[in-house]
Amino acid sequence: MRAKRTSLIHLIYFSRSQLSADAQARMRELGEIARQAQKKNEFAVITSFLIMEQGHFLQILEGERTSVQETFARISGDGRHREVQIVEWREIAKREFVTSFATAVRTPANEALFQKANLTPMLQRGTPKAASIYGLAQALHTESMSKQGIEHLFV
Ligand SMILES: Cc1cc2nc3c(=O)[nH]c(=O)nc-3n(C[C@H](O)[C@H](O)[C@H](O)COP(=O)(O)O)c2cc1C
Repeated sequence: MRAKRTSLIHLIYFSRSQLSADAQARMRELGEIARQAQKKNEFAVITSFLIMEQGHFLQILEGERTSVQETFARISGDGRHREVQIVEWREIAKREFVTSFATAVRTPANEALFQKANLTPMLQRGTPKAASIYGLAQALHTESMSKQGIEHLFV
């Protein structure tokens, strides 16, 4: 008999950023998070996409259940953000993202995608929808893949 495959899940959360108000300092701090996260996620075979928007983080983590749980436990205790809230946690058939840690912030080039997702009112109410976060991340991911090496912040 074949052994049951380990389950693949995704976890979507949002939180309030505690990074610097100064844009340059903030991007440096985000770069530091990316360096730590990329290494760890590669080791744990986690793929992820992190959006920083309106003082919030929105992240999707994909991987084997235990790896995602361990990673999320570490992330939720990190002082660089607060009020970490899970939006969705479920089994998935396949991964959507290909990189261990990709990030996106609003830029003139992707402004239309952010506007279409219309996360602002949901973030203000504290109720962002999983489908909206996932949809925006997918769109940003697709866009950055098609512009590989040009629009990417961190791959
Ligand atoms: C918004 C945000 C997203 C993060 N994403 C990840 C991630 O995807 N994977 C990860 O290992 N660490 C991530 N981190 C960093 C962890 O919280 C932690 O600092 C890092 O894993 C190092 O943990 P350690 O000091 O216990 O080794 C993130 C931190 C923040 C603030």
